[in-house]
Amino acid sequence: MPDITTPAADAEAGPSWRFAPPRGRLVTFEGVWGAGKTTAAQLVGAGLRRAGFTVRVVHYGGEPGSIGRLSAFLERSPLRVRTGLGGYALPHHSTVDVLLRLCREAHHHIHCFRPALAANDVVLVDHGVYSKLAWALAVLTETAPEVDPARTLERLRAVVAPWFCEPDVPVYLDTPWPLARERAIARGRGGGDPAAIERLLFLPRYTAAYRQVLAGHEDRVARVRVGLRAAGAVADEITSRLLSTLRAAPLAATAPGRE
Ligand SMILES: Nc1ncnc2c1ncn2[C@@H]1O[C@H](COP(=O)(O)OP(=O)(O)OP(=O)(O)O)[C@@H](O)[C@H]1O
Ligand SMILES: [Mg+2]
Repeated sequence: MPDITTPAADAEAGPSWRFAPPRGRLVTFEGVWGAGKTTAAQLVGAGLRRAGFTVRVVHYGGEPGSIGRLSAFLERSPLRVRTGLGGYALPHHSTVDVLLRLCREAHHHIHCFRPALAANDVVLVDHGVYSKLAWALAVLTETAPEVDPARTLERLRAVVAPWFCEPDVPVYLDTPWPLARERAIARGRGGGDPAAIERLLFLPRYTAAYRQVLAGHEDRVARVRVGLRAAGAVADEITSRLLSTLRAAPLAATAPGRE
């Protein structure tokens, strides 16, 4: 497993950072379900490749082994079963649910993002990373409303800290959730049932939790207004913003040993 370390983190650790392997830039596409993340990531990936960068667009699913079995369990036997407006059909073990999902996420950060960063200039993650924290925060605050959400987020951040790859540029696709939901329904594929009443009830809370998570990273978040703009126009804006960032701080400046 390559040890991916950033110069900023390594500066305190001493000169050994000079021997760290090159590390590309991590760009995550953030936004609610149906916001246009996968569409934008693919178009932006193509644009960055045309500009000469090596790019990996990470879109996962159908994984082998224990992570695949964990995923199947989380998707097919959800611990969060709610029927209509009547509340949960079963007790919701929100802490267990969140921890299992974070186990899967840890696997992705360690075994997928890190090797991809070692081998590419840019790694684009089409399902966000802060999205997972926002989901967890929404679920935990829903089932334990008496706990201060700021404190819950602090605890979540502490749990993920050992493995979490902070994105260099989190691109937030600002698509209002009702529009994103309509698009996810019209798309007719993807995870879960986008038309489910359960999602409808959850989305405002999820959006609020997302805002809270991103508030801690405002200096890095690239917000992009989607609304009724065409996917190509949205992708062009993101590509040109990323190219400015990449050219302003070339990889060679932060990744010693890189050609
Ligand atoms: N700017 C846009 N204008 C109109 N339709 C769009 C736009 N961007 C994406 N779409 C369409 O909206 C639907 C949802 O897009 P996409 O699958 O990229 O969203 P997503 O954020 O990846 O969703 P999920 O969270 O479910 O993975 C797709 O059918 C896609 O073609
Ligand atoms: Mg997607």
